[in-house]
Amino acid sequence: MPSISFITGIILSIFFVNVFADNFVEEHANSSRHPGRHRPPHVIVIIADDLGWNDVSFHGSNQIPTPNIDALVANGIALNRHYVQPTCTPSRTAFLTGRYPIRSGMQGIPLMAGERWGIPLGTPLLPRHLKNLGYTTRLVGKWHVGYYSVDHTPCHRGFDSFLGYYSTFIKYFDHTMRQNNDTGYDLHRDSRNTSEVVRSRKYFTDIVTEEVENIIGHHDVENPLYLQIAHLAPHMGEPEDRVEVHDINEVNAKFGYIKDMTRRKYAGMVARLDFSVGRTVRALKNRGMLENSIILFTADNGAQTLGLYDRYGSNYPLRGFKSSLFDGGVRSSACIYSPLLKNVPRVSNELMHITDWLPTIYSVAGGNVTDLGEIDGVNQWPALRDGSASPRNSLLLTINEVSKVAGGIFGKFKLLKGHNSQYPDFYGNISVTDDVPSYDPTSVLNSDAGRAIAGISNAFVTSQKIIELRNRATISCPAFDQFVRCTNKCLFDMINDPCETVDISAKHPKIVERMENDLRRYNAVLMPQSKSEFDPASSPRNFGGVWLPWVRSNSSTIVSSTG
Ligand SMILES: *[C@@H]1O[C@H](CO)[C@@H](O)[C@H](O)[C@H]1NC(C)=O
Ligand SMILES: *[C@@H]1O[C@H](CO)[C@@H](O)[C@H](O)[C@H]1NC(C)=O
Ligand SMILES: *[C@@H]1O[C@H](CO)[C@@H](O)[C@H](O)[C@H]1NC(C)=O
Ligand SMILES: *[C@@H]1O[C@H](CO)[C@@H](O)[C@H](O)[C@H]1NC(C)=O
Repeated sequence: MPSISFITGIILSIFFVNVFADNFVEEHANSSRHPGRHRPPHVIVIIADDLGWNDVSFHGSNQIPTPNIDALVANGIALNRHYVQPTCTPSRTAFLTGRYPIRSGMQGIPLMAGERWGIPLGTPLLPRHLKNLGYTTRLVGKWHVGYYSVDHTPCHRGFDSFLGYYSTFIKYFDHTMRQNNDTGYDLHRDSRNTSEVVRSRKYFTDIVTEEVENIIGHHDVENPLYLQIAHLAPHMGEPEDRVEVHDINEVNAKFGYIKDMTRRKYAGMVARLDFSVGRTVRALKNRGMLENSIILFTADNGAQTLGLYDRYGSNYPLRGFKSSLFDGGVRSSACIYSPLLKNVPRVSNELMHITDWLPTIYSVAGGNVTDLGEIDGVNQWPALRDGSASPRNSLLLTINEVSKVAGGIFGKFKLLKGHNSQYPDFYGNISVTDDVPSYDPTSVLNSDAGRAIAGISNAFVTSQKIIELRNRATISCPAFDQFVRCTNKCLFDMINDPCETVDISAKHPKIVERMENDLRRYNAVLMPQSKSEFDPASSPRNFGGVWLPWVRSNSSTIVSSTG
């Protein structure tokens, strides 16, 4: 990778060799290519961190306009029943493995820095599968599925390159992460045999955008690209300034109508994320890649509105937030755009799960999903492409054997088991507090993404169509006095009661029994959570002030120097 201007110093270098992984890639290379197929598409996956249902404008809120993301919807599909995991590490595990995290002990509380666990090395990840099909694979942004040994880091799990952080989050400007008494840099540029610490004072969302433009700008367009863009935004930073914006004056000028200062800055973080999405689409267009690209946008889980790390995200009118099993925690803001999709634009209310992306992407990349072994995801590509019914009728939300809650979906029904007392309310009801400008569909048409797509599309997207689509993507709930508390079990009708206000379990004992049987079957294969104590050996004090892998692994020799 060419070095770019914001690298101002390299304080540490690591060189390592991994013989086993190299052999793996060679053995499996070319095993599944389809002869005579069209060139495999470029696949760009954009993951927002803790972005709420109500923090994008395509679900009906006027408060934070997201014209670029809305342009993906206006030309693609709003994925309105797309379920994820309630927190970050499990969600990213599900995405990368195509398997429910309970199968590998990755459910529950997210990984903290300095803990010796991660996705087990025997489980191959999406980028490795795609490498086997000839893809160049790149990760920009967050990892957060384990880094205790070099073998667990992105470039040893299938990515050709990585620029980003290993743990939960970093500060937006100085890229440090503080945990208890330890503070260290967590911004690295890795390849398979090199690792550099990147020192910069640039706003992280902009670092991501520049890296993405650089990757796309230098990509050999004859080769298929898998680019995973895992944004920090709009996750909070450190407690002293949770919502760091790239330019407070710009944010005040743009969002002065939002009286609550924290929410206003949150809007600024989301707007910069949306801007990045537009620049990404434009970069693809500029290289002639957009015609053969698939762009998926999703949040990893719902917004966290209150409590520890609050930062005024909103999942309204969905109930609950990040880490709860109510829809505010597990039903993500998501959409997909590709010129390969037919019957677009549309709002899809077909059931999807984050594990579905592994077989879906692998299949559209030309692979045979039987190569993927035992997975929970199903190939959604034909349904997405044609607008046909989802092959999925049920899913496991999760089982948390520590907090003793579980949940699943079967058709229109959702079952929650256990004491779902964590964040059970409605939060972020922003509907009345401010004098918010009305939605402007021309800003969608004129956004970077809107114009880039219009340049290659035959579809005629109008303001009127955008408004109609947005109305169809908006969830509203009938008036109600009180919603039910879920302390033992609750059954909801998610089509007629998407806000989860009425427990109908007493009316449908057979459905409840069937769904409880499903949960029991999953419980039988559950691997207990891998959660471990902080290992003091991981402290940045031992590594020149940097969070780094600290456990030696069989296949890697780490030589570190502080040159
Ligand atoms: C942090 O340092 C303080 C003072 O040395 C100590 O009392 C405290 O136990 C430390 N906390 C942790 C989590 O290590
Ligand atoms: C890294 O590996 C590549 C290919 O195996 C090799 O060409 C390059 O010289 C190596 N770089 C370093 C710094 O060892
Ligand atoms: C996928 O692989 C399976 C098992 O090897 C094989 O039976 C099937 O025909 C393959 N499908 C396609 C479309 O190649
Ligand atoms: C949200 O606020 C509106 C306006 O005050 C109110 O009508 C509605 O009942 C609120 N919703 C909830 C779930 O509190």
